[in-house]
Amino acid sequence: MGLVELEATAKALVAEDKGILAADESDGTIKKRFDSIGVDSTEENRRAYRELLFTTEGAEEYISGVILFDETIRQSASDGTPFPKLLESKGVIPGIKVDKGAKPLALAEGETITEGLDGLRGRLEEYRELGARFAKWRATYSIDAQRPSEYCVWTNAHALARYAALCQEAGLVPIVEPEVLQDGEHTIEESSKTTGRVLQALYTELHDQRVEYRGTLLKPNMVLSGYDASERAGVDEVAEATLECFYKHVPAAVPGIVFLSGGQIDEDATAHLNAMNARGPHPWQLSFSYGRALQSPALKAWVGNPENVETAQRAFYHRAKMNGAARSGMYAPEMEREAATV
Ligand code: 13P
Repeated sequence: MGLVELEATAKALVAEDKGILAADESDGTIKKRFDSIGVDSTEENRRAYRELLFTTEGAEEYISGVILFDETIRQSASDGTPFPKLLESKGVIPGIKVDKGAKPLALAEGETITEGLDGLRGRLEEYRELGARFAKWRATYSIDAQRPSEYCVWTNAHALARYAALCQEAGLVPIVEPEVLQDGEHTIEESSKTTGRVLQALYTELHDQRVEYRGTLLKPNMVLSGYDASERAGVDEVAEATLECFYKHVPAAVPGIVFLSGGQIDEDATAHLNAMNARGPHPWQLSFSYGRALQSPALKAWVGNPENVETAQRAFYHRAKMNGAARSGMYAPEMEREAATV
């Protein structure tokens, strides 16, 4: 598959009114989510929960693609349809998380390097056979007086670019995800400075490793005040600081920026995206690739009980619709009331 197809897939993932569902929680992360609702993380429960999300009627109006985990891409719906086939039948593009997690970075206390490059070429080939058309790799960075170090910023940028080049060779659109964690007491200015450093390194490495920007998507954090900051920036300030940072550092050839939610309150993640799109048009599509901010209400409504599937699906559909509205700056907090009536 050449650049034309990669670009077409990237553009389809950021089609008007649509964004991506991140349902690629690793075993450890899904266990944490299930623990929060008192459900055992068994293979069958994980399968049933993902089936609930993927069979939500109408969600495809707002969901262009779904990121799967290694276990999930091999699972099937109750009627035997493999999940990738089920998604494709609704016009939703299957994707796959291919990194093996953020591990301690040697000689750099409190910093991480994302692993998973060894054998990646072979794994990408298999995932493509299984139906994946795009992939995801997440690197993480913390903000404090010493962090992130240049060492952490550049080693992760190098690994992200190696992953992205292998994806393009294999015919998969790489979503590059450098996540500057927003935990801590940092100011929005500090968040902007760090996010800018990380993006600058990332686009240098992507360029040097011959990655075609047009066949990629960027999945970044928004520029926020730290979650424990004494004064936290409001919606307009977040939208403006985030746009300013991305205008400086993200090439216009990148078709889309699909934000992660990163632990924001669901409605905040929607309002921030909306405020950015309301200030458009921009050189790139601004969309979402949310995990928690799309799933939280559904997870809480489900609590592992098959009788709650429909209620949970309504909750998921509602969040997808709200974020779909934020794609064009048409979201308003009053629309949240619809949730009670749909
Ligand atoms: P959150 O939206 O919950 O941050 O998850 C997105 C994601 O895929 C993180 O890698």
